[in-house]
Amino acid sequence: MINPLRGMKDLTFDESQRFAHIVTTCINIAKRYGYGYIETPILEETTLFKRSVGNSSDIVSKEMYQFEDKGGNDVCMRPEGTAGVVRAFISAKLDRQPVKQKFYYYGPMFRYERPQKGRLREFHQFGCESFGEATVYEDFTIITMISQIFKELGIGYELQINSLGCNNCMPTYKENLVSFLEEKKENLCKDCNRRIETNPIRVLDCKNKNCQLLLKESPKLINNLCQNCDDDFKKLTQLLDNAKISYEIDTNLVRGLDYYNKTAFEFVSNNIGSQSAIAGGGRYDKLVEFLDGKPTPAVGFALGIERIMELVVMPELEKDGIYMGAMIQEAVETLFALASLKRETTKVTVEYNSKGFKSHLKGANKANAKFVVLIGEDELKNGLVWVKNLETKEEKSIAIDEF
Ligand code: HAM
Repeated sequence: MINPLRGMKDLTFDESQRFAHIVTTCINIAKRYGYGYIETPILEETTLFKRSVGNSSDIVSKEMYQFEDKGGNDVCMRPEGTAGVVRAFISAKLDRQPVKQKFYYYGPMFRYERPQKGRLREFHQFGCESFGEATVYEDFTIITMISQIFKELGIGYELQINSLGCNNCMPTYKENLVSFLEEKKENLCKDCNRRIETNPIRVLDCKNKNCQLLLKESPKLINNLCQNCDDDFKKLTQLLDNAKISYEIDTNLVRGLDYYNKTAFEFVSNNIGSQSAIAGGGRYDKLVEFLDGKPTPAVGFALGIERIMELVVMPELEKDGIYMGAMIQEAVETLFALASLKRETTKVTVEYNSKGFKSHLKGANKANAKFVVLIGEDELKNGLVWVKNLETKEEKSIAIDEF
């Protein structure tokens, strides 16, 4: 027997229904917020992710599905969706248009991580990217949209927010942080020591308990923001307060990707084990420019569909459609024309084996059909069908033409 690769999963039966329910809910809400669908390739040039997600990030340095294709190109299975959407935005010259653009997407992402509960090597994200809107109102609106998605899916969460500043305030902060880290160097873990050189901000995200303890005393960017970043962050918290969306300010929240500035956020759940982040995102005002597009402010998020599948409360399925069956073999083929007609508007299940009345009723219940339609000897002779509404229990025989 051939199994899926480690960290990859088939989605079947109950799981595929959960998956579809989550995606449909997300799409409906994203459309209400003015987002349109975008689809980008799974395979991209490796350079794209190196330049956007960042060379020093774990994703790029350790987790990429990277290989040389038959043409000798260095390619990579996308580890996330934002980079591809930004590339597509620039490729289509949308950065030259004055209008604001909003895109949603969903699909598989690949990260060669150590698999565990809630952490897969192939997982699926639903994400949104909004281009051309620089005000913090858009950050607020995106957070509102995600909380609405979780509300409609019946999922509880905690929201953590932070500001990562901008080119004005981040460099000075980085210098202060590095001086602080240099002093503690000997007591910080090996990874942190490496990060001091490559990307000191990432040290704040270290999960090592000892490092976390030492970092309690570290300078906080939130206290060193420039006026503009500080105003925006205060405005964001005020808008969230007004909307009664609760949040926690996490000064160590830096996110695992390098492209963020200003607002960064994560939605976490306490009910799915250690891999608790169910959605994450933030502002990335410099990325379009960095990938050779015209300077365009942007903000977005992605949620992890598999993690949410663990939490979602599925709505009770309403009875739907028609179950058709015959009680004598000669009547079976009469059902096909009726089924085709009804399938123009309705879900129809046809049972190909002639059976007794009780068996058909069982089949109709299993199919969760709203109506059962049967043809027996009498019906066939008289050009009738027998119809029962399984919700109201009303039943009658009607002429096939009328049906
Ligand atoms: P991210 O935080 O790396 O952000 O991923 C978003 C979500 O994907 C996470 O919160 C988590 O639910 C899910 N996820 C990540 N890795 C795995 C995994 N190995 N197994 C299962 N689920 C996983 C991004 O990817 C950014 N592109 C989000 C964004 C969009 N920022 C701006 N726009």
